[in-house]
Amino acid sequence: MHWTKRIAKTLESCLLVLSLGAGAYSAIGQTGPVTALQPGSTISASKQDWWKNAVIYEIYPRSFQDSNGDGIGDLNGITQRLDYLKDLGVDAIWLTPCYPSPQVDFGYDISDYKNIDPQYGTLADFDRLVAEAGKRHIRILMDMVMNHTSDKHEWFIQSRSSRDNPYRDWYVWRDGKGEMANHPKDEDLSLGAPATDKGAPPNNWQSEFGHSAWEWDPATRQYYYHKFYIQQPDVNWDNPKIHEAFKDIIGFWLRRGVSGFRFDAITTLFEDPNLADEGVVTGKDGKPRINAFGDPVLDNSKTDNLPGVHPVMQEMRAHVDTFSSGKFPGTRVLIGETYMANIADLAKMYGSAGKPEFHLPMDTQVGMINKLDVATFRARLNDVETGIGGNIPLLVFDNHDNPRLDARYGDGVHDIDIQRVISTVLLASRGTALFYYGDEIGMKTTPPTRKEDVKDPMGVTGWPKEKGRDGERTPMQWDVRANAGFTKGLPWLPVPPSASTINVEIEKFNPNSLLAWYQRLIRLKKINPALARGENVMLDTRNTKVLSWVRQAPGASAVVVLVNFTAEPQTVRLSVSGSGGKTRTLLKTPGGAEPVSLDQIVLGPFGVYIGEVQ
Ligand code: GLC
Repeated sequence: MHWTKRIAKTLESCLLVLSLGAGAYSAIGQTGPVTALQPGSTISASKQDWWKNAVIYEIYPRSFQDSNGDGIGDLNGITQRLDYLKDLGVDAIWLTPCYPSPQVDFGYDISDYKNIDPQYGTLADFDRLVAEAGKRHIRILMDMVMNHTSDKHEWFIQSRSSRDNPYRDWYVWRDGKGEMANHPKDEDLSLGAPATDKGAPPNNWQSEFGHSAWEWDPATRQYYYHKFYIQQPDVNWDNPKIHEAFKDIIGFWLRRGVSGFRFDAITTLFEDPNLADEGVVTGKDGKPRINAFGDPVLDNSKTDNLPGVHPVMQEMRAHVDTFSSGKFPGTRVLIGETYMANIADLAKMYGSAGKPEFHLPMDTQVGMINKLDVATFRARLNDVETGIGGNIPLLVFDNHDNPRLDARYGDGVHDIDIQRVISTVLLASRGTALFYYGDEIGMKTTPPTRKEDVKDPMGVTGWPKEKGRDGERTPMQWDVRANAGFTKGLPWLPVPPSASTINVEIEKFNPNSLLAWYQRLIRLKKINPALARGENVMLDTRNTKVLSWVRQAPGASAVVVLVNFTAEPQTVRLSVSGSGGKTRTLLKTPGGAEPVSLDQIVLGPFGVYIGEVQ
């Protein structure tokens, strides 16, 4: 399961600040400010296929832009920043949840699926965001949380009110183990049953956020299941009414003009009906492995990736496909939060031609390698090129649940250069690219240093080993004003000190910045035919220092991409069949002469070269 993949990096490495200029690149033939892509200037597919070579930008609304000074980002703030996203070349925004919520899990605990949390705005603000984004050819994708609701959702309030409430079966309720023997009859409950009568939790399943996944409900004397926080009871997908309720919610947002959804925690919809215990994972010494919460690590075999998810997604896809035309033309796209163990499991998430499921289940195999290892990158990129039945890959390296790229790939010295390397793998590979707000400027993971400052509850439970996810959710760094231009109030999370050098305003005017690199890469992805639609073929496959591949599409000049994964200069000799051995630079970092021949391409430390084969 994905949370086990989160890595704990020391604060020290996160706080090493780099000078922005270090290793800055020069773009051949493209110096000076980067102009926005004009609609129609891209090689994109029809409106129907808008998603196939798309760039999707994840926004955590709480942290992007505050427009009313309350220290919390909001929808109007996002609307104010749409021109920035347009200039960057973004096709769609994935908004993490902005529905009404008690905010225990910052929006992933939803109490009303058909409204906007007043902290973030109103439905009218949402409609304006969709319309303004649409004018800029940017689509809005919502987060769809179907595994659980908030415990303050009306369904759960009803469900826990009595065992015979019609909503009882909308959630996962079970008796405690060993409780039945001395369970008082319902009519005796008023006499006050001793608390010890609850028995033990039904089995050993655990919450992703620490400790038992079962919460005792004293009023109705049963346990309910919660894969995530106690305040996030899992809904019961064996109940057909849940299916109808979510289809209704999906329709509500599609009719408002959204272009798709990212399905949250989708692999955890079902649990083993027999409630069998999960296996305990042991270490090399044969002893149970213990996680940051002090619990044994379980194998998730009874609560994750059970087969029931496939028919549900086929049903949701068929439902969404009936909305394929309307006020905002083009396919409505289903994205999955799919941390899969291998490429075969990921392939299943696409479904089949007759029974399609996700358009774009996230490939985290490449993005969460968390180590600059050429051979592993090559193997995983090959997997996603060849192992998903010709579907479109969705590469993703970063999100609101994992330490940012500096903490997972950086070396504390060349972090910005390394992020150029990562962005090149992301944006110069075949398929759709998803990145997280702030990646484009090199924002750093900045976790809290004191337990009393932690906002994400799992960071309190797990302190100090697990500090929670605040470090990757700090406010967007716009400029050098107070609070980096995020808010005029007190930001809900502190703005990192690195904001004085890492921010949009500074990078916008620096043609060698990471931001400018992202813009140029995105532009190339859109306008170069091989980069827009060509297949990926790995080159120089024994090299352990440099990852090289060629993008080739019928009728288009091939494009080679080389990325140096090391801090030392490297020289690469390539041969691309059918070419004259010459290359014309499209984009490169400094260091080494301008290559003309594929026979000798010199890359500086963490250097990148993208060239059109002649
Ligand atoms: C997903 C979200 C995460 C959330 C969890 C429970 O993994 O990305 O932020 O806490 O689901 O909804």
